[in-house]
Amino acid sequence: MFPPMKKKTLRLLSHPVLIGLMGCGKSSIGRRLSRKLKMPLVDLDDVIVEEAGTSIPDIFAQDGENHFRDLESGALANHIGRRVILASGGGVVLRKINRKLLKSHPPVIWLKASPEFIAGRIAGDPNRPLLANQDALIRLTELAAERYPLYLECADLVIERESMDKDEITEHIIKYLKKRVKA
Ligand code: S3P
Repeated sequence: MFPPMKKKTLRLLSHPVLIGLMGCGKSSIGRRLSRKLKMPLVDLDDVIVEEAGTSIPDIFAQDGENHFRDLESGALANHIGRRVILASGGGVVLRKINRKLLKSHPPVIWLKASPEFIAGRIAGDPNRPLLANQDALIRLTELAAERYPLYLECADLVIERESMDKDEITEHIIKYLKKRVKA
């Protein structure tokens, strides 16, 4: 565990954007970072749900994935660059315009988790429209094949999600952010 950080150090820390496949821990690690760094967390999925006034599965069902991606791009553009920790949805890297935004707002941190690891955690979750009525592991394997190169393209730091628990990852990220202040 770290000793409490000086106010000046906290002020100088850059604000990270978390990316990675659904269920890799972006929101929960984002919450931990938010507590430790005293920096607000903005979860793009929550922003979309709040603005749309309906759930993500409903947005997919009623208006289709493309409409969801429009809302996602809008939410990203509105919140990136703010002094907040940003937890993105797993598909944020699909659009080139989003990747361009991500790459111009470092540090982007990829929580890299395998389909096997994720499948065990989120199988049967009704809030995951992309996995609805499908074999979670097969679908996640397809998503990983499509998205890993895109996450890599945007990432300033890659963390192997399965190599550490959430608290260790949180501390690893804080160490990285502090190193960037000194660099
Ligand atoms: C999606 C991931 C979800 C959510 C939506 C689409 C995706 O977010 O944005 O269901 O395309 O992988 P999480 O990664 O936070 O689960």
